Amino acid sequence: MESHSNQHKTEDTKVPSLHYVTPCFLSEALSRSTGFQTYMKLENLQPCGSFKIRGIGYFCQKAKENGAKKFVCSSGGNAGMAAAYAARKLNMPILILLPKTSPSFVADILKREGAEVEIFGESFDEANFRSLEIAKEKGFTHIHAFDHPDVWEGHSSLITEAAEQLNKKPDVIVTCVGGGGLLIGITEGMKKVGWEDVPVVAMETKGADCYNKAIEKGQLVTLPAITSIAKCLGALTAAKTALELYKDFKILSVVVDDKEAANACLQFLADERMMVEASCGATLAAIYSNVIRKLQEGGKLGGIRSALVIVCGGKLVTLDLLQTWKEQFSL
Ligand SMILES: Cc1ncc(COP(=O)(O)O)c(C=O)c1O
Repeated sequence: MESHSNQHKTEDTKVPSLHYVTPCFLSEALSRSTGFQTYMKLENLQPCGSFKIRGIGYFCQKAKENGAKKFVCSSGGNAGMAAAYAARKLNMPILILLPKTSPSFVADILKREGAEVEIFGESFDEANFRSLEIAKEKGFTHIHAFDHPDVWEGHSSLITEAAEQLNKKPDVIVTCVGGGGLLIGITEGMKKVGWEDVPVVAMETKGADCYNKAIEKGQLVTLPAITSIAKCLGALTAAKTALELYKDFKILSVVVDDKEAANACLQFLADERMMVEASCGATLAAIYSNVIRKLQEGGKLGGIRSALVIVCGGKLVTLDLLQTWKEQFSL
């Protein structure tokens, strides 16, 4: 059943949004681990299995209202899936360029959504470069996976929604960072509901930690390659706006290793009976690897009565993958 209770205003109409209103539950198991009330915002229940549809759906709707004729993008991950879904819902054509390295099942999923899929180049960077060229040459609208104000605006609904559901301000928000679109969207939402003073724990995995490195250096850093299992966090360079959030928000950037992310996915499956992907495992490692407690002990976080954890996605995971991690990391 599709929920269209979320709406965004255009100039003179209200357009139903493409994402669902997701549940925001108190997790008994996570609360037992943390010792305080721990709420989960279940973005893994979105139509394409991740929060991405919030921002990309909003971007595409707005672009269509402004006369876009065709979309082009180059993501084979959750952003690409959300883009293909949004295009189908909006009756818009979309071209998605995937590199040769992309597994064939990704192309199959995107084609099933009605997207035109072209294989181009050896890496996502090459495919992305070409998709930008095509946008310019043919006048298509390019969809950026994380670095666009409309994407952030769409993601902000995650927090405005949670504020209504929780009816109180949490003492900490826990999320993960890839290129930073989710984090920026969260802070946009925090501004709207008066939560600017809530600290945000921003999790990454080693080998996909361009944000943490940028914060340490005080400037954007481009990783040579993504070596983590959390491919979804695999932006080589974070969005500049994400780096600048430090001025106005208390962002605590923390890096865990792949083993901790994989362990968190397995623990969460045992605790909540939900399969989530490695990026979400990075978020949940804040709890299962006691990151929050360590931040408190280190004086970086104060007393906490409640936390809001963003369960960002559960599409890019399978039982086989969890089993592989179990063996690979001796879990
Ligand atoms: C499930 C999931 N979580 C987190 C992220 C990171 O989001 P962002 O790149 O906006 O920081 C992504 C990015 O694709 C994702 O798919």
